[in-house]
Amino acid sequence: MTAPGIRFPSLPDFPWDSLAAETATARSHPDGVVDLSVGTPVDPVPAVVAEALRAAWNSPGYPQTWGTPRLRAAAVEALERRYGAEGVVADAVLPTIGSKELVAWLPTQLGLGAGDVVAIPDLAYPTYEVGALLAGASPARVADDEPLPEGTRLVWLNSPSNPTGRVLGVEALATRVAEARRVGAVVASDECYLGLPAPGADPVSVLDPRVHGGSMDSLLAVHSLSKTSQLAGYRAGFVVGDPELVAGLLAVRKHAGMIVPRPVQEAMTAALSDDAHVAETRQRYDARRAVLRPALERAGLRIEHSEAGLYLWATADRPCRETVGWLAERGILVAPGEFYGPAGARHVRVALTASDERISAAADRCDSVAREHFPGL
Ligand SMILES: Cc1ncc(COP(=O)(O)O)c(C=O)c1O
Repeated sequence: MTAPGIRFPSLPDFPWDSLAAETATARSHPDGVVDLSVGTPVDPVPAVVAEALRAAWNSPGYPQTWGTPRLRAAAVEALERRYGAEGVVADAVLPTIGSKELVAWLPTQLGLGAGDVVAIPDLAYPTYEVGALLAGASPARVADDEPLPEGTRLVWLNSPSNPTGRVLGVEALATRVAEARRVGAVVASDECYLGLPAPGADPVSVLDPRVHGGSMDSLLAVHSLSKTSQLAGYRAGFVVGDPELVAGLLAVRKHAGMIVPRPVQEAMTAALSDDAHVAETRQRYDARRAVLRPALERAGLRIEHSEAGLYLWATADRPCRETVGWLAERGILVAPGEFYGPAGARHVRVALTASDERISAAADRCDSVAREHFPGL
């Protein structure tokens, strides 16, 4: 032991590390792997964004933690135009280095710690739990119809959900916001999939006046450009909402050097000012969903929720690791539902983030399974 005083935080194992065996199996498929285990974009960065990045390459000085005024204004306008947000002020927009870092550090930056409860969805993106643990607070999985536990100081909402693609309606969101305000908790609404509804779905933001009731009090909306604008590689996100909360976060983050690089700020401004590429992205995922969803169903899986976002939430009514192994033998790699909480033990999450060619390959492999069962298909 070289440094006996060092005690790294005790965190769960990184979930994807446990997929090594299934990954090796899927990779050995003679026609190549179809990796649908991670929601990482594969389509090109939109041209308007790339141009803005190129134009800003000569940025030798330190950028502002708060972001440029143009970026903050573009964020407010995009929220109003795309999602009907009302009451958002540009001073209450704060760029983040992707949204994962904010999710992981928000409880710490809000000053939460021992004795404080961070309520997370019963099926949740793993970083909500990690963020609570990093702060020394207690994560608590709370289903939508359960009350917030005693001591709740922060409530994570995530609609459309990762992993289920479930969309919460205005009433469900407004009820949770009202309850959180009653008990004095902050609501952080992770809205990174809001721009990617499947046809017929209509996800809402907490920034919608029907949800917030005309006040930003205690509200934070967390946005990411990773999925709607193919910018996962740029690390581009922002948090927006209650001006006092955002000012507090800015003060911490200025000291901590959590600054989005200036060329990325310019790229974000361009992405937030253009809706055409978002519509194109949505159409691409709609087309992939329309190919893969029925193919998985023909192979015997049942799809639940999956109303928006980048994932199909599927079950073969057996333990998730068996389904992951069964698909891996067909060269298709997916994530076991248990990564997202015990309630996912019999589900798998299938990402739509693969090229059209790979999605078709996955659908063909599902159909050959279906033909084994139903030869006339
Ligand atoms: C629900 C949710 N929140 C946040 C993130 C983080 O995204 P990023 O850091 O790329 O903005 C992800 C990424 O997959 C996610 O699924």
